[in-house]
Amino acid sequence: MIRLFVFSWLFFISIAGSVIGQEEDEPEMALLPQGEGREEVFYLCSACHSIKTVVQQRLSRDMWDKTLDYMVSDQGMPELETEERAQILNYLSTHVSIE
Ligand code: HEC
Repeated sequence: MIRLFVFSWLFFISIAGSVIGQEEDEPEMALLPQGEGREEVFYLCSACHSIKTVVQQRLSRDMWDKTLDYMVSDQGMPELETEERAQILNYLSTHVSIE
């Protein structure tokens, strides 16, 4: 019985370890609140700069809209598909917003 307990405890530790390990691969992911579009924002925006650059800004929807244009026109971000752009704008103006 004790042995079974030890085994399940080890099993639990190894699972917990692998979950924590994943977070360590992408420590900046934790800066973004859960929500639809989170992964898209993470992979797109962290290609060039820290996610801190994104979350330290608390912008209105209108300002995020302009910022996305500015990333494309001046910073070399690829132009987004209409749907993807809308999803990213929704995410930012919902979760990284002053509103
Ligand atoms: C192709 C590269 C690239 C991508 C992709 C990119 N950025 Fe940027 N971004 C930059 C650069 C370069 C700067 C620094 C510009 C500067 O110093 O003013 C910057 C700066 C910023 C700033 C700070 C602007 C300011 O006025 O200080 C914000 C906010 C920002 N990016 C948001 C985003 C968001 C949100 C995304 C994803 C949707 C994104 N960026 C994707 C290149 C990129």
